[in-house]
Amino acid sequence: MIPCMLTLLLAIPWVSAQLGVSFSSGYDFFTGKTEIIRTETTFTPGAMELKPKGNLFLWPGLWVPANRTTGDLIQTVISADSTLALECGAKKGQWCIAPYVMHGVAYADRERRQLAIDPDAKIRIIYSKTTDGAKWVQTTLDATTGKMLQNYTGGTGKKVQFEFSTELQYGNLGTTSTQVYEDTVITLAAPDMAFGKGKRKGSATIEGVTSEQEGKIWKIKKVVIPAMRSGVANHPATGKEIHG
Ligand SMILES: *[C@@H]1O[C@H](CO)[C@@H](O)[C@H](O)[C@H]1NC(C)=O
Ligand SMILES: *[C@@H]1O[C@H](CO)[C@@H](O)[C@H](O)[C@H]1NC(C)=O
Repeated sequence: MIPCMLTLLLAIPWVSAQLGVSFSSGYDFFTGKTEIIRTETTFTPGAMELKPKGNLFLWPGLWVPANRTTGDLIQTVISADSTLALECGAKKGQWCIAPYVMHGVAYADRERRQLAIDPDAKIRIIYSKTTDGAKWVQTTLDATTGKMLQNYTGGTGKKVQFEFSTELQYGNLGTTSTQVYEDTVITLAAPDMAFGKGKRKGSATIEGVTSEQEGKIWKIKKVVIPAMRSGVANHPATGKEIHG
């Protein structure tokens, strides 16, 4: 029973159209000229509904969209759903976080140890390569204390798109809070002045996009993904109501 459940859980993000996967607001940054070698961003998920329907997956991702069916998607996933909450030991109103690697569309590997995080947590999520350049490393840190939370190695290949995504599965009704990604830094292997334009999805907004070294390093001060609908939750520590 348990291995079966585990297999199902591990395969959740990106699974398939039959499961009713849909995407909402976000932002894509793509290079047609070079590749991405490192990314960093600080994520705050906002309030979580106490009883979300289906699964809600929030993630920054690194991949090659054209090779979606064969390539690896590097994605640290912040998720909401009652089953995963049990698995990561979250209290009501806490999210679960875990580094995943989605291989093509059907199979995922994941850091075994999922962690519970608060709605106002600031999590630094870093994607880098192992020193030999062969594999990707996903590191999560508590941005306030600097404490390392997870350090997961898995996934291979050159990557050309970094994106901020909102993914809904199994009838999830959408976010009820604003997600914020701050102080994002994306390093390319070579300059690409076109990279910073980005592609907006839905109602996401960005501010403070700057570049250094002729477009090799890109910084984005803030990415804001507004709530899809209104909702109220309680902060797991204080019990205080948090609105969208
Ligand atoms: C996509 O996959 C093909 C086949 O493996 C590979 O030749 C190509 O370089 C990949 N594209 C990118 C942008 O990595
Ligand atoms: C994380 O894992 C990578 C790859 O195994 C390793 O090089 C790095 O030192 C680790 N980082 C920390 C802080 O442990």
